[in-house]
This record gives sequence, C-alpha cells and structure tokens, in this order.
Amino acid sequence: MMQLELGAAVLAAVLGIGTVSALDNGLARTPQMGWNTWSSFGCDLNANVILDTTRKIVQYGFKDIGYEYIILDDCWSDGRNATGYLQPNMTKFPDGIKGLADQIHDLGMKIGIYSSAGTMTCARYAGSLGHEDQDAAVWAEWGVDYVKYDNCFNEGEEGTEKLSYDRYNAMSMALNKTGRPMLYSMCNWGVDGPWLFGPTIANSWRITGDLIDTFDRDDPQCPCVEKEGLDCKVPGFYCSLMNVVNKVVYFPSKAFPGAWNDMDLLQVGNGAMTDEEYITHFSIWAAMKSPMIMTNVFAEIDARTLSILQNTAVLAVSQDSAGSSATRRWRYFVNDTDSFGQGEIQLFTGPLSGGDQLVLFLNAGTRDRDMNATLEEIFWESGVGGRAPQVREAWEIYDLWADRLSNAQAAGIIAGNATIPFNMTAHGGSPREVYAQTPPSNSTALMGTKVGTVSPGGKVTVNVKAHGVAMLRMRQQPGGDKDEL
Ligand SMILES: *[C@@H]1O[C@H](CO)[C@@H](O)[C@H](O)[C@H]1NC(C)=O
Ligand SMILES: *[C@@H]1O[C@H](CO)[C@@H](O)[C@H](O)[C@H]1NC(C)=O
Ligand SMILES: *[C@@H]1O[C@H](CO)[C@@H](O)[C@H](O)[C@H]1NC(C)=O
Ligand SMILES: *[C@@H]1O[C@H](CO)[C@@H](O)[C@H](O)[C@H]1NC(C)=O
Ligand SMILES: *[C@@H]1O[C@H](CO)[C@@H](O)[C@H](O)[C@H]1NC(C)=O
Ligand SMILES: *[C@@H]1O[C@H](CO)[C@@H](O)[C@H](O)[C@H]1NC(C)=O
Ligand SMILES: *[C@@H]1O[C@H](CO)[C@@H](O)[C@H](O)[C@H]1NC(C)=O
Ligand SMILES: *[C@@H]1O[C@H](CO)[C@@H](O)[C@H](O)[C@H]1NC(C)=O
Repeated sequence: MMQLELGAAVLAAVLGIGTVSALDNGLARTPQMGWNTWSSFGCDLNANVILDTTRKIVQYGFKDIGYEYIILDDCWSDGRNATGYLQPNMTKFPDGIKGLADQIHDLGMKIGIYSSAGTMTCARYAGSLGHEDQDAAVWAEWGVDYVKYDNCFNEGEEGTEKLSYDRYNAMSMALNKTGRPMLYSMCNWGVDGPWLFGPTIANSWRITGDLIDTFDRDDPQCPCVEKEGLDCKVPGFYCSLMNVVNKVVYFPSKAFPGAWNDMDLLQVGNGAMTDEEYITHFSIWAAMKSPMIMTNVFAEIDARTLSILQNTAVLAVSQDSAGSSATRRWRYFVNDTDSFGQGEIQLFTGPLSGGDQLVLFLNAGTRDRDMNATLEEIFWESGVGGRAPQVREAWEIYDLWADRLSNAQAAGIIAGNATIPFNMTAHGGSPREVYAQTPPSNSTALMGTKVGTVSPGGKVTVNVKAHGVAMLRMRQQPGGDKDEL
C-alpha cells in the first residue's frame, strides 16, 4: 500500500504537520467520545442527573467501547466569588465540581466543563474573557479534564481570524499553563474560519451553527443554505443534519490527530429523527472524524438508541489511527424531495489504516434507491482518472451496519441481564488501543460482515434506504486477482 502511505505523507506536508502535532497536549489523538448535558437537560443539569448518567454509561458498557468524557454544558455556575474565582451552583452541585469530578473519576470516566470566550456564557453566567488564567487554574484544581469554550457575549471581538484567534488562544495558553492536560474544545460556530487557526491552539472546533434533531430543513436562523461552507459569516442555530454535512465537506483536510472538525453534539436517541436518520447521523459523524458526544437521556435509553451508539464497527472508523477524514467524491440532486430542501445523493470515501478504504453512500432523497461507485471514484485521491494502483486490485466489501445489536440483545444490556458482546477491556487493551491496531482486527464487531467483492476495475452497487446510508469497509482480497493492465 505504498500509494496510500505516500498520500498520507503528502497530506501531512501540505498541512505542515510532519511528525509533530500542533497543540501539544497529547489529547484527542482520535476524535473525543463522551456525553454532554445540553441537548437533553439544558439548564436543568445537576450532580444527580450527571452521576446517574455516568453510572449507566459504565454499566451498559459504553465506557468499555471508548466513551470517556462526561461534559457539563452551560448553567453549572453561580458566578464569581469575592476573590474572583468561578464558583458552582451549590444547590445543583452540593459537593462542588471537585466533589463531582472525584466521583466521575472513581467511575473511570473524565469530566468536562463549559465557559464562553465572552463576558457572559450563552445563558448569561460569568464568562471567561479576561479571566482566562484564573478560570483555567480553578478548573485544574477541581480535576477537570476537558473544556468546551463557547462564543457568546464576545464584545464584538470577532470579524477577523486574528480577533477570534487571540480570544481563543488566551484560553489555550491558560490551560497549558496549569500543567494539567485538558482537552480544549472550541465552540465558535465556524465564525472567522476556525479550521484555519483552530488546529494550532485547540483539539477541536465547531464548524457551523448549532445542529438540531432534524434531518433536512432550511431555517432562516441557520443561514447560508446556498453558500454552504463558503464565506458563511452568520452561523446561527436550528441547523439540520444535511445543512451541517453540506458545510463541513469543504474543510475535511483540516482534521488530523489531535485536531478535529466538530459537527456538534450527537442527537441520536433524542426522538425527532427516524432510526434510519440516526444511523446516517452516527455514520457521517464517524466518517468525518467529528467528536462523538452523545446527548440522549440515559434513564430513558431504548434498544434502538443503544444499538446505534454501540456500533463498534462504525466507531472503529471514527477512532481509526490514520485519523483521516472521509471526503465527498460526488453529489447529485435527485427529483424526490420532502417538503424542505432538495433531494440529493452523495458519495464519501477515505483511507483507513492498514490499506482499508471507507465507502459511504448517502441517500438524502425520500425514496430507497440503488447507488453505485467505481473503484476509480473510490480511490480518486490515490490517483486521479483511474491511475490509482488500487483500481487494479480485487476488494472484499464489509457492511458496517450488518452486526448492529438485535433489539433483544440491546434490551438485555439495558435490563442488566446481558453484557456487551465486544468488551474491549476484556480483550486486553483499552478501547483506543484496540481501535488503533494496524491492520485492524478482523473481528466482525470491528469490521462488519462481508457482503461481497469487487473485481479489478469494477464497481460497487448497493441499495440505500431513503435518508439512509450504506457504510462499507473495503479490504484488499487476500491473494486476489490483479489485473496487470
Ligand atoms: C504545554 O505546551 C508545551 C509546548 O507545546 C507542551 O510540551 C506541554 O505538554 C503542554 N502542557 C499541557 C498541560 O498541555
Ligand atoms: C468489560 O471487561 C472488563 C474487564 O474484564 C470488566 O471489568 C468490565 O466490567 C466489563 N464491562 C462490562 C460492561 O461488562
Ligand atoms: C442554582 O440552582 C437552583 C436549582 O436548580 C436554581 O433554582 C437557582 O436559580 C440556581 N442559581 C443560579 C444563580 O442560577
Ligand atoms: C474563591 O474560590 C477559590 C477557588 O475555589 C477559593 O480558593 C477562594 O477561597 C474563594 N474565595 C472566597 C472569598 O470564598
Ligand atoms: C423522477 O421521479 C419519477 C417518479 O416520481 C421517476 O419515474 C423518474 O424516473 C425520475 N426522474 C429522474 C430523472 O430521476
Ligand atoms: C450509477 O450511479 C450514477 C450516479 O448516481 C447513475 O447516474 C447511474 O445511473 C448509476 N448506474 C447504475 C447502473 O445504477
Ligand atoms: C432480560 O430482561 C428483559 C426485561 O426485563 C426480559 O424481557 C428478558 O426476557 C430478560 N432476558 C433474559 C435472558 O433473562
Ligand atoms: C481473523 O484472522 C485470524 C488470523 O489471520 C484467522 O485465524 C481468523 O479466522 C480470522 N477471523 C475472521 C472472522 O475472519
């Protein structure tokens, strides 16, 4: 697989990353995984809800497949104390954040906190602008492992990359000064092109306005539908899944180990999308190397939600050690549409470690349909116009959704009378070590089930459900045919 290694080296040179990572805090070598309070609890978060969720995340086996961070969003705070330090709302957090952090750590998980690079947070609690060192110091003292840093009330200190960079870099430096590694998650909604400066100061940066639990809907509060990712100055909220996908596709190469495009919190299980749409959501977030941060209510988790969030074959793509985002190869509009937006189909492909290749067909139309891609299209980035050597090789095709847990298995895990079938801790490594194996494990839990092969010069054809995806891993056929043309 010389060509793929060359491809990665060329990419590294273009990005100027070489062998060093930009933000040298050693964190997020693969996209971060965890749970955040915001989408389900908003300002009604408290220690009970958070600890109950953490226990369920551990008990149901989510920890054993890589979910790691429990992240408090806005509304944990009660402003500043007499000496200027942030203090938690003691009604919500009777043991303080330090007490909560200790309990989360005792459960084997890590804790994240939230603030804004402004004078106030979005819910109007004290912001960190001008208090970066003091706030970072108190978080470190509490044992915080992760900081989500929002963009509300920024006093107009935006509009150029430099203004945004300076504001976000102040916190980056303050976090570093504490000496405690804290994953730094920038949340400035794509304003001033954070993909340009985020990689040098943060572990991830939001690409767009806020995602909501909807597949495809144009909303004036999430503008730039026509401009998509290009020159969109107004980030907004109420952004649909397709809106976010069609914006992020322009910046895939900016994601690399330690530095990721953030497509926003996962909405899987929150109730307003169909099962098929949540499969699509989870698959694309994994393929594009977005952080995988759940937001569902764990006290009410159902079997379908659990079996999406626990698809380790999809997570193996998210956590692949090559850390290379899939890219969109093509997009066609189709004439079946719902009441919002235009129907469209898209093909994403990208390299995985060990020479495997990801192929993801997205059918955003409202009818099930056959979709196809030639090896020339699939390996376009390894050699345009069919010049990639992989086009002359034979490939096995594995379906990454074929081994989704059955409803009975998933219900058993929730009921406490079944355990996850693929507990990585029990397989002798941390989840991250298991996902990082090269070549990847051939267990069906990590690579799905073989559904076909493709001959040299051939084409992959699959039926894809409406608002659905086909997510496939291709692996070179052992001793397969080689067309020496
Ligand atoms: C701070 O930055 C230095 C230089 O990049 C790095 O070596 C160190 O690990 C960083 N420390 C933390 C806690 O992020
Ligand atoms: C996974 O395996 C580890 C090590 O054997 C064990 O401690 C843990 O309880 C298991 N997790 C689940 C959810 O069964
Ligand atoms: C602290 O939390 C309690 C309970 O949720 C709430 O009633 C109160 O308004 C909060 N205080 C602040 C300053 O937000
Ligand atoms: C304010 O909070 C800091 C950090 O928790 C603490 O060290 C300090 O004693 C507090 N000051 C007052 C006046 O309560
Ligand atoms: C448009 O949709 C109709 C069915 O509604 C179908 O028969 C026709 O082939 C479609 N045309 C194109 C160009 O896809
Ligand atoms: C293959 O996909 C292309 C692009 O969507 C489409 O135009 C073509 O009709 C498809 N071919 C077959 C045989 O399905
Ligand atoms: C597990 O618990 C569920 C819910 O209580 C029950 O429906 C199911 O029969 C149980 N399965 C086994 C194997 O005990
Ligand atoms: C995985 O690979 C091992 C070693 O090459 C082999 O023994 C085993 O049969 C393979 N398992 C599957 C499911 O292909």
